[in-house]
Amino acid sequence: MADVYAKSSGMPPDGNVGTKRVRERARRNYRHIEVRPYAPNLGAEIRGLDLAEGLSEAQFEEVHHAFLDNQVLFFKEQSPIPPGTHIEIAKMFGELHFHPAAPGKDGFPEIFEIHAHAGSKIANGEFWHSDVSCDEIPPLGTMLQIHILPDCGGDTMFADSYAAWESLSEPLREMLDGLHGEHESEHIYRGRYSDRGMEDEGKVYPSATHPIARVHPETRRKALYVNRAFTTGIAELEPDESSAVLAMLLEHAEKIEFQIRFRWEQNDMAFWDNRCAMHRALWDYWPAERKGNRVTIKGDRPS
Ligand SMILES: [Fe+2]
Repeated sequence: MADVYAKSSGMPPDGNVGTKRVRERARRNYRHIEVRPYAPNLGAEIRGLDLAEGLSEAQFEEVHHAFLDNQVLFFKEQSPIPPGTHIEIAKMFGELHFHPAAPGKDGFPEIFEIHAHAGSKIANGEFWHSDVSCDEIPPLGTMLQIHILPDCGGDTMFADSYAAWESLSEPLREMLDGLHGEHESEHIYRGRYSDRGMEDEGKVYPSATHPIARVHPETRRKALYVNRAFTTGIAELEPDESSAVLAMLLEHAEKIEFQIRFRWEQNDMAFWDNRCAMHRALWDYWPAERKGNRVTIKGDRPS
C-alpha cells in the first residue's frame, strides 16, 4: 500500500483543526431539565420537559444557561407544540423577529412554516448561513419544531463559529478584528416565495454591514460572523482582496471539525444561537415531505 505520508515528514498530519482548542463549556448542575452534550464541540440534547406544556421560569433559566453554553439545543421526546405556546416560549427569550421575505403561517404571522414537498422548487437553508444575517438587527436565535419528516434524510448541519474564530492564527485575527462583512439578501429572497403568493415587485430586501469578529452580547466571546448565503464581501478591502479573504474565511468556517449533524425525530425542537453558530439544511429527501414551525427571536445589533 502506498505510504500516504511519504512526501511529508513521514508523520501523520498534526491533528484536526480546532480539536486541541480548550473548550469553555461550563459544567452546571441542572435541577429542572436534563442536558446531554451532543458532541465535544457544540450542541446538547435536552430532556425532562415537554415544551407543549410551556416553559416555567425555573426551566427557562436552565434552558437559557444551556443555550449559552452549548449554542444549539435539541429538545427530545416532544409532543407537537401548539402555535400559541411556541410563540410564548420564544418571547421569553426576547422580542420576535419577522422574516423579511417569507409569509407567516395562517393566523400566526410570527410563525414561518418550513415546508418542502414533491412540488417544491426550493427548500430553506440549503447553504451555510446564520439566519437573516442581512438584517441590521439579525435574529438572536431560532426555534424550529419539525412535525413531518421523510423516512430518512432532512438532517440539519450546525457549525461552531466560536471555534472558527478561535482557531484562526493570531496575525490573521489581528487583521480581521475591526473589519466588516457585507451581508445582502436580494440574491436570495427575490421571487423566492412567489409560489406561496408573495409578490415582491418594488420591494427592497435588507442588507447590512456587520463586524467579522462578532462579540456575543451575553457570553462576550468572539465568533466568526460571515456566511456563504448572505456575506458578499469585506467592506474595508479592495475587491480582489475582499473576494480572496472572504473565500478563505468561508471555507474555514465550514470545516468539518466545527460541525455537527443532527438527525431529526418527529417533534424534535431545535433552538440555535445565530450569533455563534451557522447551520445548513439538507434537501436530500425530495420528493418526500418535511414540515415544521419556526419562530425567530430578534437579537441586537452585532458589535
Ligand atoms: Fe436557517
